[in-house]
Amino acid sequence: MAVRDSFHSRIGFVLAAAGSAIGLGNIWGFPTNAANNGGGAFLFVYLIVTLLLALPALYAEIYIGNQAQKNPVSALGDACQEKMPRFGRLAGKIGLCGAIMMLSFYTIVAGWMLSHALSSVTELLSFHDLSVWLSTDSTLRNIIFTPIFIILGAAIIHQGVHAGIEKWSARLMPVLLIMLIGLIVYILQQEGAAEGLRQYLIPDFNQVTEPKLIISAMGQAFFSLSIGVGGMMVYGSYMEKDRDIGKLVLSIGALDTFIAFLAGLLIIPALYVAQHAGQQVFTGDNLIGEGQLIFQILPALFNSMGSIGLVVATGFFLLLSIAALTSTISSTEVPVAYLVEEKKLSRRKATWLVSGVVLIASMTLVAFFDQLFGLVIQVLTTMVQPLSCLFYFIVVGWIWNRGNKLRDKSLQGGKKWLGVWGNYLRFVCPILLTVVFVNVAF
Ligand code: PHE
Repeated sequence: MAVRDSFHSRIGFVLAAAGSAIGLGNIWGFPTNAANNGGGAFLFVYLIVTLLLALPALYAEIYIGNQAQKNPVSALGDACQEKMPRFGRLAGKIGLCGAIMMLSFYTIVAGWMLSHALSSVTELLSFHDLSVWLSTDSTLRNIIFTPIFIILGAAIIHQGVHAGIEKWSARLMPVLLIMLIGLIVYILQQEGAAEGLRQYLIPDFNQVTEPKLIISAMGQAFFSLSIGVGGMMVYGSYMEKDRDIGKLVLSIGALDTFIAFLAGLLIIPALYVAQHAGQQVFTGDNLIGEGQLIFQILPALFNSMGSIGLVVATGFFLLLSIAALTSTISSTEVPVAYLVEEKKLSRRKATWLVSGVVLIASMTLVAFFDQLFGLVIQVLTTMVQPLSCLFYFIVVGWIWNRGNKLRDKSLQGGKKWLGVWGNYLRFVCPILLTVVFVNVAF
């Protein structure tokens, strides 16, 4: 049998998984949510939800994949082998659809980032009309840039796990960090930034118990850690079996939260700089709109800074494009791994087939944008992701017995905490998650 492609080092795995986690959710979603939900209060609740629920879910997802050393459909099938193998595989396939759903809207938004980056470059080169076209929303622009982004992701995926995903994550993640820090240093020197810092870092604790805030924080945490579509499971399966997953999960969570926190240090002060320069940024306590933040307020701010502003704008949108690319590849890998392992397709064929399906899905969203775009995001983040997580907890805590070191004392090698951790995943997590889920749904 051919040897399964895999990550060649622990750090390779951590960077790839952090690449999946760190995406538009961190750089756009997190600061927007924080700005709309009490600044530091949101950060505070976000940290609690991440520790109590999101990291355990990430652990369960990676653990299932790592033990099975197979794609998510087979991995969940194996874990449910004794009690309900069919249902396990079905859940894996639902996750696979979740990955396609994620890609269908994510590649559109990522395409916007690319076109905005190019818009600043073309403005720098004095192609004014082209630059305006690139920064103006249009169906044609979506039809051109969404496929470009899908092809970029496919170009990495078809090279394989080690030569594609691991190598590119290791190249792109440090670039992302350097660009982010450079942008923060620049923005914090502008007038008005200090007020933004204050708003962001000093929590308004009156908002901490708002149900809306807790629910937004949970949705944000699950999306941000890429939980519930199988991407982390498939990455876990490419790592050598029986690694200390707890430590790895903590590193991924820390990196993801750190970048989200840094993005807040960039975006929220930038909003106040824009306000200081006379732009309208807030209506009442809320931002004037999610889309406006990235595509109007910040570009207008960059424009007002002259040619240095265009360089900053290029950097900013490239940063977002890179973050989106490494997230896109983890979701693409889910159906690709399934097709390669179960349907015996070559990696190249599987990659292009999946990319074709994603293209059709995303173009459907472009065609029926008003009806579908928000709906797909909502179904994914409020239904598919939380329900998949609930299923992972139930699998790890209740269904999968043989070979499960969280349940089988003889496999714990004297590590008592594994049993305690197992009970936490078995009892506490499903209840907590159900309580929040019921609040979201009803
Ligand atoms: N975590 C990514 C982000 O924050 C999004 C993502 C969700 C990626 C689900 C893969 C799977 O943008």
